[in-house]
Amino acid sequence: MKKYIGVLDSGVGGLSVLSQLVFAMKSKNYIFFGDTKNMPYGTKTPNEIFLYTKKILEFFEKNNVSDVVFACNTTSAVAYDELKECFKGRLNIFPLIQKTAPYALENLKDDDTIAVLATKATVNSKKYEEEIKKINPKINVVSIDCTGFVEIVENRLYEENSSIKLIKSRLDIAKEAKAKKIILGCTHYPYLEKIFKSILDVEYFNPAVCMADVVKRSLNYIDDDFQGEIKFFVSKNPKQFILSAKMFFDVENAQLIEL
Ligand code: DGL
Repeated sequence: MKKYIGVLDSGVGGLSVLSQLVFAMKSKNYIFFGDTKNMPYGTKTPNEIFLYTKKILEFFEKNNVSDVVFACNTTSAVAYDELKECFKGRLNIFPLIQKTAPYALENLKDDDTIAVLATKATVNSKKYEEEIKKINPKINVVSIDCTGFVEIVENRLYEENSSIKLIKSRLDIAKEAKAKKIILGCTHYPYLEKIFKSILDVEYFNPAVCMADVVKRSLNYIDDDFQGEIKFFVSKNPKQFILSAKMFFDVENAQLIEL
């Protein structure tokens, strides 16, 4: 029986992680679930996010998944601890923030400032602060609520004046704080990285890149020439998902499924 790695997010953001996973481990099989019906997660309560994610994990279990990558910072921040307990001994879950935050600190020294661009729920959880302070309590962490960025990506509103204005207003906070580095603390934000760079030219840390490496090492992946299978599922609007995905993935078919 074919085994799959389950990868989940509220929408196309998770594809910025899936693309790195496939690049690092091409012979694995993947099931991607984009919960477009409940997107954005970032403005929902922790309990709502827990319930959405639990359903996706149950769906994964029924579809031969044993390893799961949370390609979503928000879920990792507010629901991972509880879900880990619920699915103990059944699913091996990789949470994005907890697995990658230590790598964000490379090349930073005491008293440097790092900014985190993230959803409201991630910012409120203070998860990035917690994980970073565990490694180096002397790093200043400035978390910036970027509500609205996810909709820009999902609806491809990259050129709108209102989008640029909103992005600039958020990056101004990082600039004022003299951030040496900025964490793309939501998997939708790599779609905006070029725009970010054109507004504020500092180093951006994309957790997706080291996430793939962490998973690869943990699964003891050995490369071969075989090309694995990738299946896409969404809970709403597959056509829009395919169009918005383009920047990171050529999705040919996304199946609509009600959980
Ligand atoms: N892409 C997700 C994250 O990394 C969720 C964004 C949202 O739906 O608000 O947080």
